[in-house]
Amino acid sequence: MIRTENLRSGYIQDDVEEYLYQLLPERDAVIAEIEDYAAQNRVPIIGPAVARLMALLVEVSGAKRIFEMGSAIGYSTIWLARAAGPKGKVIYTDGDPEKARRAKDYFRRAGVAKRIEVHVGNALELVKKAPGKFDLIFNDIDKHQYPAALRVALPKLRRGGLFITDNTLWSGKAARPAPPDDIHTQGIQEFNRLVYASKELYPVMLPLRDGVTVCRKL
Ligand SMILES: C[S@@+](CC[C@H](N)C(=O)[O-])C[C@H]1O[C@@H](n2cnc3c(N)ncnc32)[C@H](O)[C@@H]1O
Repeated sequence: MIRTENLRSGYIQDDVEEYLYQLLPERDAVIAEIEDYAAQNRVPIIGPAVARLMALLVEVSGAKRIFEMGSAIGYSTIWLARAAGPKGKVIYTDGDPEKARRAKDYFRRAGVAKRIEVHVGNALELVKKAPGKFDLIFNDIDKHQYPAALRVALPKLRRGGLFITDNTLWSGKAARPAPPDDIHTQGIQEFNRLVYASKELYPVMLPLRDGVTVCRKL
């Protein structure tokens, strides 16, 4: 199997998803190692299909100052840092110090440690405190916090900047009535409503893997 279980969308037909992943070029040794580790330890990562989209968006937009909310073991961070180039700066944030420790080792081995600032703590607080504005903010924290992430991230994004959020279809659950105790689905549904209602944003939701929403700040 090319598309490992941890990357399964839950709403795309298996053969179609398998096809999409088998088209992707092989990744370098460090990225491949992180993918294997994530698959074996069920660490959620965006995976290579979404990572390529992120890299493309960084490259075409020329984003250099990037803030990542929810970086885990640094898989998406490395793709962002590589796409931003030697003049790029990516702020890594995660609440779990153990994940940050592993991420730092990967950054060193991927040759991008100098482009990444590692911050352990609550991404909602860290983005508020970060000096200046960002060209691109990537949101991948716990899903019930998505409406709050939007609230705090938007003032920190420059006009024309990109706010990208993963898992906005949430295995298709976003499209169905959420049970009263499912705060994650409810958070995503509220987030999706908010971005499409916002006069400050131009959002596009892409049904790639678990759903990716790309918003441009107007
Ligand atoms: C889906 S994973 C991130 C995966 C990563 N973006 C990637 O693709 O490689 C979500 C991470 O967000 C972290 N997290 C959740 N809520 C957070 C918060 N409020 N502040 C900081 N980290 C948070 C969790 O510890 C977890 O490691």
